[in-house]
Amino acid sequence: MSSMDIPFTRTRTPLSRPDDTSLSFGKVLTDHMFVMEYDEGQGWHDPRVVPYAPMQMDPATSVLHYGQAVFDGLKAFRQADGSIKIFRAERHARRLNKSCRALCIPEMDEELIRRSFEAIVAADHEWVPRALGTSLYIRPTVVATEVMLGVHPAHRYTYFVICSPVGSYYKEGVKPVRILATDTHVRAVQGGLGEAKTAANYAASLSAQQEAERAGYTQVLWLDGVERKWIDEVGTMNIMMKIGDEVITPPLAGTILDGVTRASTLQLMRDWGLKVSERKVSIDEVMAAGRDGTLEEMWGTGTAAVVSPVGELAYKGETITIGGGKTGPLTQKLYDAIVAIQYGKSNDPHGWMTEV
Ligand code: COI
Repeated sequence: MSSMDIPFTRTRTPLSRPDDTSLSFGKVLTDHMFVMEYDEGQGWHDPRVVPYAPMQMDPATSVLHYGQAVFDGLKAFRQADGSIKIFRAERHARRLNKSCRALCIPEMDEELIRRSFEAIVAADHEWVPRALGTSLYIRPTVVATEVMLGVHPAHRYTYFVICSPVGSYYKEGVKPVRILATDTHVRAVQGGLGEAKTAANYAASLSAQQEAERAGYTQVLWLDGVERKWIDEVGTMNIMMKIGDEVITPPLAGTILDGVTRASTLQLMRDWGLKVSERKVSIDEVMAAGRDGTLEEMWGTGTAAVVSPVGELAYKGETITIGGGKTGPLTQKLYDAIVAIQYGKSNDPHGWMTEV
């Protein structure tokens, strides 16, 4: 099925669109949404694009109680010639299905997931902003819609895709953030849900995030849940650092998300001939490198913020400043390279962009 074949009911009450300069992250939603349902025996059915509208739910709908919900997040970018391209749609579709498997949600046809992205962006194409640094954030989500209070995988689901024109994720823009390593809160453990993009992981992060913010930090640096020693992620992003001539990022070993920006930046750095290691790295190693000056740069990677430099890291009452608290040259180079590909300002050697 091509996106052309997906039924489209256009809104009769289009909203006024915000100015490109006033965009923050995820506060404004567009005019339409993609929807389809799953029923046992019938499979996924009735894909369609309809006017954006609230969904009615019975108070006993299982997702409201047991959190059987997955989502993903990707972006569409306005190109200089006015056309629109999506960044790594195929990889996001694959990851959404992987998250579905982890939560016992029936998988969808990956081609149809990609079509759903294209169909909603095509319907809301006027909402794709034009200013550099802005994009249309696409949020595919699957929730269990069976009405029941028993705890078991549901027999009914709804898949929907909504969109939001966005600016920078952090109000600071690409500016170094201060992060706090926590050994009291845990995000995920092996055998748990850490590598799925599911609501529970974000709920689990809130109290630590709130504590960090109250202490004057932007994000939490998550350590592993067993030894409380190995670095996992930062906030909702993957973490990377440059110690001496080695770029290090924790391996995909079951507790962290297989980030699309993580994979993309690793690919670019390998293309550039840098020494890149996906290996375990302890908070002690990083603090020691901070003290002796070999910790040159540290940054988070994610779809929302792309690359977010870390200027300061605090752990057990000690604070280290990284790269003089400024955005490092490699962090900036990665940001510039990804953004150039996304807006079509450089070539796309790995075929990451697809036209809508
Ligand atoms: C990302 O894109 O970096 C995220 O995971 C953030 C999102 C949950 C708002």
